[in-house]
Amino acid sequence: MTPKQQILETLRLATEPISGEQLSSELSISRTMVWKHVQSLIEEGYAIEAIRKKGYLLNKAQQPLSAESIKQYLHTEKYARQLVSLDSCTSTQKVANEWLLTNSYDGLLIVSEEQTDGKGRLNRSWNSTKGKGLWMSWVIKPNILPHESPPVTLVAALAVAKAIQKITSIQVDIKWPNDLLIDGKKLGGILTELQSTPEQIEAIIVGIGLNVNHQLEDFEPSIQQFATSLALHQETVINRPELLAEIAYQLEHAIQQFEAEGFAPFREQWTQHSQMIGKEITAQTVRETIEGVAVGINEYGALLVETSGGVIPLFSGDVTLSKRKLDFK
Ligand code: BTN
Repeated sequence: MTPKQQILETLRLATEPISGEQLSSELSISRTMVWKHVQSLIEEGYAIEAIRKKGYLLNKAQQPLSAESIKQYLHTEKYARQLVSLDSCTSTQKVANEWLLTNSYDGLLIVSEEQTDGKGRLNRSWNSTKGKGLWMSWVIKPNILPHESPPVTLVAALAVAKAIQKITSIQVDIKWPNDLLIDGKKLGGILTELQSTPEQIEAIIVGIGLNVNHQLEDFEPSIQQFATSLALHQETVINRPELLAEIAYQLEHAIQQFEAEGFAPFREQWTQHSQMIGKEITAQTVRETIEGVAVGINEYGALLVETSGGVIPLFSGDVTLSKRKLDFK
């Protein structure tokens, strides 16, 4: 460990301020060097307060998404054991695609403090304010066939919902297929891209965007009405590296189970998180508009919609709750 890392480690473990003098004698470096390392940590995004006559105190909730800060919380076997943490990029999906050309690691994580061209489903733009959220892409290589891959989005959404509940106790709804909501407002979303030949999956890139420490004004005015963040539902700032590490753990676990048992074991949990089951919906697919009642989800992750013509499995589409009553009900 370098002296800078040692200072960070000491401040992380401390519950009280640590004086510059103590750090200097423990690390056998001058107090000026301690001060320089602390300044450099502050520049990297660590919230270190210098309290007069007491010393330095690290605010553990406000840590940057550096490899170092993520790894201290990581309890996975593979996932995020290789990771690329960026200050800014166009889109972590794009960076993940580039890494895929030269890197074959299963569970590679690309995370960025900011995206300048973040993408959502259907090529919509994704608001990725600097330092507030979790903008990440996972390159995973599950041992499944290409046609078995669609439920990965749903499995990932469940893993994120579980991680959020574990770290913040906030209960998140999932809107089929990829939206994470609180009180009907968008908290986050999942964007999965399949890289595959007809016979074999090369990789699945699972992009996860989560609004974490945003206040309302951190969202563009046009989306303030529809968006929410975890911080808007909790009084304290959320420790993003800790939440990210828990997402890594839940995702690794869920993908392992999905590889072994398919989507069936997730159906029940998914239904519990879904605010749509039993409700009248309108689904827009590439071909048509379907109206009906969402009655469940099948073992392949398709949304089952009861229409006037019978129950239809919906494999993709944009779903909204219907405003008008349906005639056949
Ligand atoms: C959606 O709800 O439409 C999906 C949003 C996915 C956003 C994430 S943020 C990290 C990754 N990089 C992107 O450009 N998009 C995904």
